[in-house]
Amino acid sequence: MKHIISAKQFKDTLILDKVLDLAGHLETSAENGALGEPLRGMVMATLFYEPSTRTRLSFESAMVKLGGSVIGTESAGHFSSVVKGESLRDTIKVVGGYADVIVLRHFEEGSAYEAASVSSVPVINAGDGPGQHPTQALLDMYTIKKELGRLDDLKVAFVGDLMYGRTVHSLAYLLAQRKGVKFFFVSPEDIRMRRDFITHLDGWGVPYLELSNLMEIIREVDVLYVTRIQKERFRSMEDYERIKDVYSINKDVISKMKEKSIIMHPLPRVNELNEEIDDDNRAVYFKQAKNGLYVRMALLTILLKWELDDRNYKIDKYMGSGEQE
Ligand code: CP
Repeated sequence: MKHIISAKQFKDTLILDKVLDLAGHLETSAENGALGEPLRGMVMATLFYEPSTRTRLSFESAMVKLGGSVIGTESAGHFSSVVKGESLRDTIKVVGGYADVIVLRHFEEGSAYEAASVSSVPVINAGDGPGQHPTQALLDMYTIKKELGRLDDLKVAFVGDLMYGRTVHSLAYLLAQRKGVKFFFVSPEDIRMRRDFITHLDGWGVPYLELSNLMEIIREVDVLYVTRIQKERFRSMEDYERIKDVYSINKDVISKMKEKSIIMHPLPRVNELNEEIDDDNRAVYFKQAKNGLYVRMALLTILLKWELDDRNYKIDKYMGSGEQE
């Protein structure tokens, strides 16, 4: 029995490629009306202690489209027995009796790992505070491969909130495992990339540059990955107000980008991406959100049905246990 807690579980490129292959297969099957109902009779519980549109609804849609059912609460902090003082650990032990898999979003870093440690069914981390968002990283990788045809030899600029943006932490980890990747970390001083990750990059010999001015490198990038400044993680609203609109990607900015490049964003956006660029063929953030459906279908299939699979997607033995490193 496995959990999906961290992007680190997918550092083996063979495993990652298999997940992406399966997602591609499921996308084609969905388009051809040939998904069948492989998860019929199975139940997925969604426990969301923080707001979500894409992650929760794409997981729920994935489960329903594969023939399964969904139970859960979109505001667990208000509508579950947490209000009465129940701990996360007790909640997970109970919900594991009702569901075959639990998808958890929680405001505390490390909460998904804690949940997995007491769970009788697989736990999927749908975002743990400023920590990790592994399923977002996988759908981001799927999007890059689909749009650019490769995951190696890329120049990737991460722009915005690199300290609190969990999607950045998970995706940068996966990209750092690929050949010929170079990172540009573009942010205000206050919300630079986490130092523990920078130390890892130094150790791995992965090239990177930290800077504040996007225009210095905009012509070089293959992937422009823009993020929202995470208001909810700031202790001081004054600090947030000072930097919240520091980046605003508009037509003028993207006119400097390569013809063959892409603009991504995990969404939701606030002011950092101007709507005037939505029609540019390099702006793939809405396609990226849709890709979440297929990648989450693949992950549910792997966790719940791998032993019955006849397409050689038995990747269980290659996957990490979900333990923190
Ligand atoms: N990208 C993402 O995690 O979006 P939601 O917060 O809407 O789930």
